[in-house]
Amino acid sequence: MDTLPTMHEKLAKWVDEIKALCKPERVHWCDGSEAENAGICAELVAAGTFIPLNPEKRPGCYLSRSDPSDVARVEDRTFICSRRKTDAGPTNNWMDPKEMKVILNRLYNGCMEGRTMYVIPFCMGPIGSPIAQVGVEITDSGYVVANMRIMTRMGTAALEMLGTEGDFVPCIHSVGAPIAAGQADVPWPCNAENKYIVHFPEERSIWSYGSGYGGNALLGKKCFALRIASVLARDQGWLAEHMLILGVESPEGEKTYVAGAFPSACGKTNFAMLIPPESFEGWKVTTVGDDIAWIKPGKDGKLYAINPEAGFFGVAPGTSKKSNPNAMATIRANSIFTNVAMTPDGDVWWEGMTKTAPEGLIDWQGNPWTPGSGRPAAHPNARFTAPARQCPSMDQDWENPAGVLIKAFVFGGRRSTMLPLVYQAFNWVYGVYLAATLGSETTAAASSAVGVVRRDPFAMLPFCGYNMGAYFNHWLQLGRKIVDPPRIFGVNWFRKDKDGNFLWPGFGENIRVLKWIAERANGHGKGSESPLGWMPRYEDLCWKGLEDFTEEKFKELMSVDRTQWMSEILSHDELFIKLYERLPKELIFLKELTLSGLWRSPQHWEFSRSSFDPTED
Ligand code: GTP
Ligand code: SPV
Ligand code: MN
Repeated sequence: MDTLPTMHEKLAKWVDEIKALCKPERVHWCDGSEAENAGICAELVAAGTFIPLNPEKRPGCYLSRSDPSDVARVEDRTFICSRRKTDAGPTNNWMDPKEMKVILNRLYNGCMEGRTMYVIPFCMGPIGSPIAQVGVEITDSGYVVANMRIMTRMGTAALEMLGTEGDFVPCIHSVGAPIAAGQADVPWPCNAENKYIVHFPEERSIWSYGSGYGGNALLGKKCFALRIASVLARDQGWLAEHMLILGVESPEGEKTYVAGAFPSACGKTNFAMLIPPESFEGWKVTTVGDDIAWIKPGKDGKLYAINPEAGFFGVAPGTSKKSNPNAMATIRANSIFTNVAMTPDGDVWWEGMTKTAPEGLIDWQGNPWTPGSGRPAAHPNARFTAPARQCPSMDQDWENPAGVLIKAFVFGGRRSTMLPLVYQAFNWVYGVYLAATLGSETTAAASSAVGVVRRDPFAMLPFCGYNMGAYFNHWLQLGRKIVDPPRIFGVNWFRKDKDGNFLWPGFGENIRVLKWIAERANGHGKGSESPLGWMPRYEDLCWKGLEDFTEEKFKELMSVDRTQWMSEILSHDELFIKLYERLPKELIFLKELTLSGLWRSPQHWEFSRSSFDPTED
């Protein structure tokens, strides 16, 4: 029954080829309809992949428990197979594309036996937007289909946009678990031995094998919208970034759009959905996107951003009515929860949702759980998949095909020491330096050690589809071309005191920092010059409603220790040496400039001038 819904010859031919290679039992072209979704969800329930949640508490919602070995992106199995190794650069895994194709062709041969091969036409960006792009994902996972329907504009509309001649990025995904005749399926098929997340940047194609989880499998997201798109962006003069996009509006009606890069699980979703405290009456934050931004120069030479996604694939743990009420409202219905805990009445729970855990929980692996179990109830990288349109804070222009005008870029990592709450780069090149040397303590979003500081340039380390040094250069070049470049800021919500407590309350209170950022970007915020850039003095931030945050505390939060910072700057060399072949020389000069600035200490840094006085020690 595979009547073709498309006249696109190239697409039809490609689907035929993949079918011949993967040998599925049947082929299903996705139209994205309600009825189709209902059918696929019912099959997933029958297979045990989906557990329907309480229809009163979570209408239209499902819980999914992954295989315990398949819980996050696999960075060490992710490859950029450009023809030349140097084009992938030293921060990416590389293999010769011909060699990789040999491996992949062997693995994919018959890999879908006994399964349905779904063909998912999808659009990244609003349908019909000149910035939007079409991809087609072939997958043998119904779970992926259900998630792609939330995360992208999927089905007939995307196929129509493609027409008969349109370009598309071919994305092939298999869980790598063929079912032999008579063999029973498992709820979460995947391949424990072989995982490959492979990108061919010149060919603009994606091959993913062995994992069903998140960015490994929902190929529109990291694989297309970041790794492949970053290559397109380099060639075409735009940016594909791991950034949230938000709008902030002052009581006077000054509206400013800000894009922010934070490494995985470092607060993009929270920041994008920020609700200001009551004391900030009249201030409003609206959401355009929480993970990926495609940013292009408009006709006026300024930068405009769209969110290529249609949903949120957000970190569940830590999300609560207190930390992120907008996210909680978004996930009330029509959402998929992966690797969270389940309550006896068929609702979800995770660490940080409520202070105390409900009784009778079943953990993410399906076992009874109590607070004394000595293990988390939800996996630290448990996620929800939810439609963006359900989020109360969506910006009125979030689907504007022209995008929103970006006035500021914010870069933030998870740093318990050193990094001040906020500072503004002196200019674009400084900003690129700041972003290029972004460091962060690692999180559970990738399967590797958690909590060690690693450089994560532009929060793009796992997502840049080409040489990171060349990527820095692309940013520098673009800065020279655009009109009125956005101002660039560094932030750190995660600084801790000597007892290990966060110094900054964060979440809604981040509006105080965002207000300063917006004012600076609009040219009327006050600040003082430090060796790292412009910084707010205590009196430059609004403390209404947070009066107990004393000037003394603020100084601790903002303090920049000259000796420590000189070592930090020197430690950037580790990254620079690695990237030396393509590293723009500007960054090396800036390193020297910043060092000498630190050494001399500036005259104008009012609130802790003494810590910069080199005659002191
Ligand atoms: P990806 O989806 O993985 O790209 O990540 P993300 O940046 O969207 O991550 P998310 O917003 O889900 O990050 C959640 C984590 O950041 C949780 O551990 C939160 O508790 C923490 N977080 C977010 N905002 C703040 C904040 O202002 N202060 C503190 N201390 N933690 C925060
Ligand atoms: C991230 O890890 O940055 C994510 C989740 O946004 S995933 O889509 O799995 O990559
Ligand atoms: Mn992300």
